[in-house]
Amino acid sequence: MRKIHFKIKRFDGNKEWYQDYQLAYEKGKTILWALTSIREQFDPTLVFTSACRHAICGSCGVKVNGSSYLACKTSLDEVLDTFKTDYLTFEPMGSFEVIKDLAVAWEPKMEKMEKVKPWLIPSVEGDVEGGFIQSEEDFHHIASPTDCILCGICASECNQLAVNDGTYLDPFILNRAYRFAVDSRDGSPEEHIRPVIENELWKCMHCMQCATSCPKGIPLTEQVAFLRQESIRMGEVNNQGAKHAFAFVNDVRTKGRLNETMLPIKTDGLFKTATTKVPFALRMIKKGKINPFHMPKAVEGIKGVQEIYKYAEEVENR
Ligand code: FES
Repeated sequence: MRKIHFKIKRFDGNKEWYQDYQLAYEKGKTILWALTSIREQFDPTLVFTSACRHAICGSCGVKVNGSSYLACKTSLDEVLDTFKTDYLTFEPMGSFEVIKDLAVAWEPKMEKMEKVKPWLIPSVEGDVEGGFIQSEEDFHHIASPTDCILCGICASECNQLAVNDGTYLDPFILNRAYRFAVDSRDGSPEEHIRPVIENELWKCMHCMQCATSCPKGIPLTEQVAFLRQESIRMGEVNNQGAKHAFAFVNDVRTKGRLNETMLPIKTDGLFKTATTKVPFALRMIKKGKINPFHMPKAVEGIKGVQEIYKYAEEVENR
C-alpha cells in the first residue's frame, strides 16, 4: 500500500524538533485533510489553524517542502506531483512569529498594517447620506484587491521580508494600501500611500513569488508598480528607488540598453558609489563580469525603442 511520509516541524514555545508520521495514500484529499488525519489518528497535541475549509477565512497557510500553500484549497496530489516525492515536510509560514507547531501570530502583522490606514477615508464631497454609491466601473478597480483573505501566503513567500522584516511592509499590507488608494469613495489616497513610501516601497525585488503563490490570484506586483508610480506623481523622487527607475528609463530611451557602469552612479551619486560599491565592482571586474571602460553604443533599432517610448507617453497623456 502506498504510504505518504510527513515530517512536521514542532515547536512547544521553547524547543523545536521534527516529527515523522505516515498516512495511507488517498486520492483527492487536501493538505488540511492530512493534518487533520494526523491529529485525529496519531497526535492530538499537533497544533495548526483552520476554520472555514473553503479558502475564505485565510487561517490555514502552511509551508510544504519550502513553499507556502493554503492547506484547505491545495490538494495533496498537487504537492506530491509538484515535488515528485511521497516525502513531505510541513513547516509554519515564513516571516511570521510561531506560536506553537504550525500556528503563527497575526497580531504583529495587524499592528504593522495599521500604518497604511486600512480603512476608507470618506471624501468630504461624498454623499454620506446616500451611502457613497460607486459605479460598476469604479468597483472593478477594487474587486481584485478586495479578494484578499489575509492568509499570509504572500508574506511567507516574500524574499524581501525574509531578509528585511523590519520596516518593509508585507505584500498583503501593500494590497490593503492599494485597495483604499484606488477606491473612488476614498478622499485621501495619499494617506494610504505615504506610509508605504516611508516603509521601503522600492525594496520590492519583483521576484513575483507573492503574486504567483497568492491563492486568490491577486496581481500584487502590479500594485507595487502602481504605488511606485503614484509616489513619483506625489513628488517623492529624491530617493534611491526613484532615481534608479529614472536612470533605467533614460538608459533604455537613449541607448536601448543599460549602462551598468553608470547605473549605480546615477542612482546613488559618485560619493556613495565610490565608498560603498567599489570593492564589489572590483571583484566583478576581476571575475570578468563587467568592463568599466565599456560604454555601450545604441542598439540597432534604437529608433523603434524611442517610438515605443513616444507612444507610451502619448497614451499616458490622453
Ligand atoms: S480553512 Fe479557511 S482558508 Fe483554509
